[in-house]
Amino acid sequence: MLQGKKILIGITGSIAAYKTILLIRQFIKANAEVKVVITPAAKEFVSPLVLAVLSKNKVVTTLAENDEWENHVMLGRWADVMIIAPLSCNTLAKMAVGICDNMLLATYLSATCPIVIAPAMDEDMWKHATTQRNLQSLKKDGVHIITVNKGELASGLIGEGRMAEPEAIYFYVVENFLRATIFHKKNILITAGGTHEALDPVRFLGNYSTGKMGFAIAEEMYLQGANVTIIAGQVQVATPYKGIKILAVKTADEMYDAVVKEFKHTDIAIMAAAVADYKPKQTAKEKIKKKENELTLQLIKNKDILAYLGSIKKKHQLLIGFALETQQEKLNALNKLKSKNADAIVLNSLKQKGAGFGLNTNKITILNKDGNTKDYSLKSKDAVAKDIVSFIRNIV
Ligand code: CTP
Repeated sequence: MLQGKKILIGITGSIAAYKTILLIRQFIKANAEVKVVITPAAKEFVSPLVLAVLSKNKVVTTLAENDEWENHVMLGRWADVMIIAPLSCNTLAKMAVGICDNMLLATYLSATCPIVIAPAMDEDMWKHATTQRNLQSLKKDGVHIITVNKGELASGLIGEGRMAEPEAIYFYVVENFLRATIFHKKNILITAGGTHEALDPVRFLGNYSTGKMGFAIAEEMYLQGANVTIIAGQVQVATPYKGIKILAVKTADEMYDAVVKEFKHTDIAIMAAAVADYKPKQTAKEKIKKKENELTLQLIKNKDILAYLGSIKKKHQLLIGFALETQQEKLNALNKLKSKNADAIVLNSLKQKGAGFGLNTNKITILNKDGNTKDYSLKSKDAVAKDIVSFIRNIV
């Protein structure tokens, strides 16, 4: 995911340094290149050997070692982003006034990339006027601050001062500094999850959709630089990216209204939701009581959102539908593509092992307007999302 991205991680002397190991792991797992620079005090908290093994790079500790000069200017220029986590009160103060008495500080002062800091200290130090003043001056200098969490501190006290969790730091950095620009300024609308059609105040008609596929596509689109809005029905997933807009709806009618409202500003709409085809003709005001042996429900058709968008879409708008089939898959999907006037249909077959609701994998075929079909192998839903996004990239 982060192939070719260069991450420079600075570690200072704080007990939270052990957590930075997980941050390094996360960037390495995402295929980023990681280099680590530490202050002398950091060595007391985390072993340079561990950091070197995990980052797959030599750890930079001093300005000169064995008559060899470490080039802090080049290190600062090498990075796409520099993250200092944890940032101690001491290094924070030095950064604020430009003191440069170790390799980390020298690198900070010569870095040309965005700088992100995740401070960690005891609550009294955090709240001290000097610390707050130093933070303000770093902010003025353009440094991005990931504020501290509240919780148990090294002193045993409970309060503000814990370093943000590695996951939160990772997603903050990815979302703010490492997104691609392929879909920059494109507005993408994605429906995800299932709808619930109320029978009475305590019951509904629904389906097994969890929203995993829709959210995976939304995240991939977002990482490619798009503005993404999800119209989410009933879902069992969440996204770590704060910039993805999520509008929650319950019923097919609510989804229809939300989608129609957003569609005007949409460049690409991807309808991954499992919308209920029918809803109860009437929703009982009170709980339906158990009486007869048989109960007949009367259902009426819901509006078809995809078909409606197909009927109003403008030339510049791209419309991608999904089709879930259990028989004559390609033929049914092709019929849906034509009858709903979509530009492409992503076909899932419930017959395929490893494909379906709630699973982490999926196997798809994409059919486009020209009648071409492309079969993909069974993959994780994240990898499937990448395939769908690169397919879209080729037809926009
Ligand atoms: N869809 C929609 N609104 C509906 C029903 C479906 O927008 N009321 C969209 C789905 O989000 C999907 C596509 O239409 O993108 C196909 O959904 P699917 O359930 O496979 O097919 P249906 O059109 O409902 O037809 P059928 O149930 O007969 O297969």
